[in-house]
Amino acid sequence: MANALLTTSLVKKYWMAGTGLFLCLFLIGHLAGNLQLLIPEADGARDQFNAYAYFMTHNPLVKILSWITYVSIIIHAIDGLILAYQNRQARPTKYVKNNTSRNSTWSSRNMGILGTVILAFIIIHMSNFWYTMHWGPIESYILEDKPVKDLYTVVMKFFTDPDMGLLFTVFYVLSMIAIAFHLYHGFQSAFQSFGLNHPEWNSIIKRTGYGFAILIPLLFAIIPIALHFKLITQ
Ligand code: HEM
Repeated sequence: MANALLTTSLVKKYWMAGTGLFLCLFLIGHLAGNLQLLIPEADGARDQFNAYAYFMTHNPLVKILSWITYVSIIIHAIDGLILAYQNRQARPTKYVKNNTSRNSTWSSRNMGILGTVILAFIIIHMSNFWYTMHWGPIESYILEDKPVKDLYTVVMKFFTDPDMGLLFTVFYVLSMIAIAFHLYHGFQSAFQSFGLNHPEWNSIIKRTGYGFAILIPLLFAIIPIALHFKLITQ
């Protein structure tokens, strides 16, 4: 029985690590696409971003990758919540009493809470843009003989809205901070779950993880800030 439990929690760790690393790759791709929002409008940002969004929603290979992303988010979230719950059950004494905080980072002790905040962000975020792109009210226009949806204008209006734009910007920036803390522990933890914790590699993996955890959310956060405060020279 104990053996079976150990095996299932090990299997869960592999799934967490695999889906987590895949989602890191998704973040790189998503960031690269979204950075096009920082191109000045006079340089053709609207057409470029909308052509990109058209490609992302019509290319069969990208569609498969999108489905793998959705499934990964669901598996990662469910497994993460179960693991966080199991850890709590197995450890009734609080960390503070055990002085465990000296041996572990704040991020590693709060992965469940951080993950829940990020899941809430993803649900709200997908209803903001992804839902609108696929099923919501959105203008279309003809670009190179194709009817493309004007997702660029949806995103611009969202962050520059006179009433809600600032609140949305703050919400996005705070969510990126939660992602930074989650990645700070999650990136290296995924490699450990796969047993890749050779002393020689440990410091490289840790440093890469810390760099990733700072750089990616920072670049993401710059997008709503730049759009809201109109920092891009047209
Ligand atoms: C802060 C900057 C961000 C902006 C401006 C942004 C913008 C967008 C837009 C415009 C879409 C719709 C694209 C489409 O349906 O083709 C989208 C989809 C999505 N975003 Fe973001 N995003 C940001 C950050 C994030 C982050 C940090 C995550 C994950 C933690 C994320 C997760 C997703 C997911 C899962 C989708 C659906 C992708 C798909 O259908 O393949 N986004 N985002």
